[in-house]
Amino acid sequence: MAAAQLESDAQLRKAIELQGFEEDRHARLLAALTARYRIPIQTPPPFQSSSLENDFLTAGFGECFDSFFAFGLIAIASESGYFTRELIRIFEPVVQEEARHILFFVNWVKYRRRQLPWWKRPAFRARCGWLILKQIASRAKTAKTMGGADNGAASSADNFTLSAHKDLGPDLTLHALLGRCLAENERRMTPYDVRLLRPRLVPTIARLLYRLLPSSI
Ligand SMILES: [Fe+2]
Repeated sequence: MAAAQLESDAQLRKAIELQGFEEDRHARLLAALTARYRIPIQTPPPFQSSSLENDFLTAGFGECFDSFFAFGLIAIASESGYFTRELIRIFEPVVQEEARHILFFVNWVKYRRRQLPWWKRPAFRARCGWLILKQIASRAKTAKTMGGADNGAASSADNFTLSAHKDLGPDLTLHALLGRCLAENERRMTPYDVRLLRPRLVPTIARLLYRLLPSSI
């Protein structure tokens, strides 16, 4: 229903609805796991949307960051034995669905912009830029607090994938994580049609950091 208000193209609407269905399934899966392992979680209050387009853009740009880190984390967790093979088997398709989500999202953003009259495009670009900056600021805050003992900001649910590598072992550096995320991002995007736009911003930032940071960090 919500997607019908947002997207007039029937096929794109179906794709967004599928994404919503998959996100809901991911949430139910996480709820089942936390219940199974008796991990206390706080259930957020029911979400009230004030702008479907803004919410979809915010969620999409957030996923571009989180999925990129999830790609590397699941590979490292799988090799380290931190996750059992059974858990990896459950989460592997979930992570690949996220790869498809962000691939769809960046192409949808471009399509959405092109559908607008030329005079509305700069405002749309500015809005996207602002939402991306908010995501970067949030992740930078997490990165800044990662070295400290008090990880209040890093433990925020929004930044889970950026801070989770600390749980995979003391030997895992941010530099190594970035390298692995870059390689996994490449691998996970390979199966899709080459004509589709790839998420570029997060891999570009990560590549820059990977080159600048010493391997000990
Ligand atoms: Fe997703």
